[in-house]
Order: sequence, then C-alpha cells, then structure tokens
Amino acid sequence: RLSEPEAIIASLAASTGSSASPVANRALAGLRVVVSAGPTYEDLDPVRYLGNRSSGKMGFAIADSARRRGAEVVLVAGPVHLATPPGVRRVDVRSAAQMHQAVFAAFPADIYIGAAAVADYTPRMPAANKIKKSNESLALDLVRTPDILSEVAAQAEGLKLVVGFAAETENVAGYARGKLVAKHLDLIVANRVGVADGGFESDQNAMTAYWQDGERTFTPGAKTRLADDLIDLIVERLDA
Ligand code: CTP
Repeated sequence: RLSEPEAIIASLAASTGSSASPVANRALAGLRVVVSAGPTYEDLDPVRYLGNRSSGKMGFAIADSARRRGAEVVLVAGPVHLATPPGVRRVDVRSAAQMHQAVFAAFPADIYIGAAAVADYTPRMPAANKIKKSNESLALDLVRTPDILSEVAAQAEGLKLVVGFAAETENVAGYARGKLVAKHLDLIVANRVGVADGGFESDQNAMTAYWQDGERTFTPGAKTRLADDLIDLIVERLDA
C-alpha cells in the first residue's frame, strides 16, 4: 500500500537534506548525533539470554527528531523490531559489549544521547551448549558490563553535549541528579518506570530533564512529541 503523502515528503526531505521538510526547524544542521536505543541481550547459552523490557521507541523517536532538525544521525539499536527512521543510519547490535563497540565506532560526533537500556551485568562465560537442568537451584555468575555513557563522557573527544537517561522506580530526581554528576553528563532525562501508562513498553511517557543548574518537566504525552521537546532542549543547551 502507498504510504501517506506526508510520510513520503518527510522521507524525501530527510534523505536529500531538503528544507521542504514539514518541520522547517533545522537547528541541528551540520551536527553529527549518535543515539543508542533499545535493550541489550546478554546470552547465557545458545538459546537463552538476559534482557529487559525496553521497547526502543523513545530512542528511535529521538533519532527521527534529530534527523528532522537537520542532524546526521547514527542510531545504534539493540534487538527491537522497529522501522528505521527516514534518513537515519542504523547499526544493529545485540549485547552491551557490541553496543559499546558500535557507539565508539560511530564517533567522532557532536552529541551523544544514550537512550538504550544497557545491561549492567553479563554472564562471565556464556555456555557453548544449552545449559541442562540438574540441581534444584542455579546461580548465574555475572560480571559488570562497560558503562558506555560514562566512557563516552570521559573519553570521546569533540563532543559538545552528552545526554543520559535514568529509568527509576523511586526518588527520581535524587537518583537522576546523582547520575548527572557521577557520569559527568551535560543533561540527564529521567522517567519513572513501573507505573501504568509510561516508561518502557508504552507509546506515552512522562519525563524530567536535569542539568547542572536547571531542570525541565515536559508535558506528558506521546514519545514522538517528547522526543521533539527533548531535541528543542538540547538545541537550547548547546547554545547555553
Ligand atoms: N548506560 C550505559 N552503559 C551501561 C549502563 C547504562 O551507557 N552499561 C547508560 C544508559 O544508556 C542510560 C544511563 O546509563 O543513559 C543510565 O542507566 P541506568 O541503568 O538507569 O543507570 P545505572 O547507572 O546503570 O544505575 P542503576 O542501574 O544502579 O540505577
């Protein structure tokens, strides 16, 4: 079936960099943006993995929004089945280690937005063959994954803005501000997970962004609109 005319125009505008885009605001023109999105899957054996409930929708919407503002966008995506936004270069990965590698391979960039829900732990040694059941209990030996966001903030040269996400179930502002400082970020976007209609699997979200001397609570709503609001804030913070 033929796509909607608006979608065709947006796609053509994005691929040519034309200002015929329905969103004429091209505040990110000339900048390169790397966005991570989705979950990571850490393999236990050839048939099982440790994953999380991230849908990737927020990160994909952010990549789309940044592209429509004129940026060159690389989207490093964990295992999700979402359409690639028009004009965005997508790199598919599975594990935290692969995401780490793909993110650094995408640099140099001007802006990094870490929207992925990266596993904090991975099996020390994935089993080569399917783990058979034997005892009544099974303990998994897990080791820390690299903190991609912290490493980007500490190591990547030439970055103008590093943006992290914090998914919290309680004390949202406190934990988010803690991560802003600990990970040396310019901006952190916090959302409360584990509540109805918001967070990981929903199309809707409620978010607050924090930076060193300010914060902004966005009007809750569709992740696509929130992505535009976040990109607007990023443009403001670039100029600050
Ligand atoms: N992140 C990352 N690499 C990791 C873990 C997290 O880049 N190995 C990034 C995420 O993309 C997100 C931010 O760090 O932007 C926050 O992740 P989160 O898991 O909420 O925070 P943690 O620092 O891991 O702390 P905790 O799990 O204890 O809340």
